[in-house]
Amino acid sequence: MGSSDSLDPLEELHAQIRRCRRCSLSGVRTKAVPGEGASDASVMFVGEAPGGDEDKQGRPFVGPAGRLLTNLLKGIGLGRPQVFITNIVKCRPPRNRDPNADEIAACNEHLLTQIAIITPKVICTLGRFAGQTLIDKDLSITREHGRPRRISGILYVPLYHPAAALHQANLIDAIEADMRRLGEILAEELATPRPQAAS
Ligand code: URA
Repeated sequence: MGSSDSLDPLEELHAQIRRCRRCSLSGVRTKAVPGEGASDASVMFVGEAPGGDEDKQGRPFVGPAGRLLTNLLKGIGLGRPQVFITNIVKCRPPRNRDPNADEIAACNEHLLTQIAIITPKVICTLGRFAGQTLIDKDLSITREHGRPRRISGILYVPLYHPAAALHQANLIDAIEADMRRLGEILAEELATPRPQAAS
C-alpha cells in the first residue's frame, strides 16, 4: 500500500511533473500545473502555459481565460471533467512571458507521455504555441484556426487561445464559430471507431 506501484500512470506522471527540474521555470514556479480531467478523455485541450491563477492553484485554466474556455465547452455540451486540459509548458513563465524554445522542448516529453496515456481521439490546441508544438512548426493560427488535421490517427483542431478574445474582442465571433464547428466534428468523430495509429 502506498508504493508508487499503486499509482495510476497519469497520477505517477503528474507527481513527476510536480517534482520536475528540467528547466529554469521550476525555480520560479509556485506550483507546477500538470493538467486535469478524465484520464481516458476522448478530447484534450492543450494551451500555452499556466498564468498567475494557475501557478497559485496548480490547476490549468482557472483564471479569466479559463472561465471563457469553461463557458465555451459548456456551449457544446462538455463539462471540464469529461475532457483533459493541459498546457505545452507546465510551469508559469515569469510575468506571463511567452515560453521559450528550450522550455517547450524540456516539457515536451511530459506532454507526449500524457497523450500516450490518455490516447485521445481529438486534440484541440489553444493558440499559436500549442498549434506549432503539436501540429506544425509553421502553423499560422490566423489562417488555420478551426481546420482539423489528422496526424497518426489523432484529429488535431487548432483553435485560437481563449485569452486572445479577452484582448481582441473582434475574435470572439471566430472563437465561438470554431467551437460550434468543434461540436459537430466531435459528434462525428466520437461516433466512429478509433482508427489505428500509423506505425
Ligand atoms: N493560459 C494558458 O495557456 N494556460 C492556462 O492554464 C491558463 C491560461
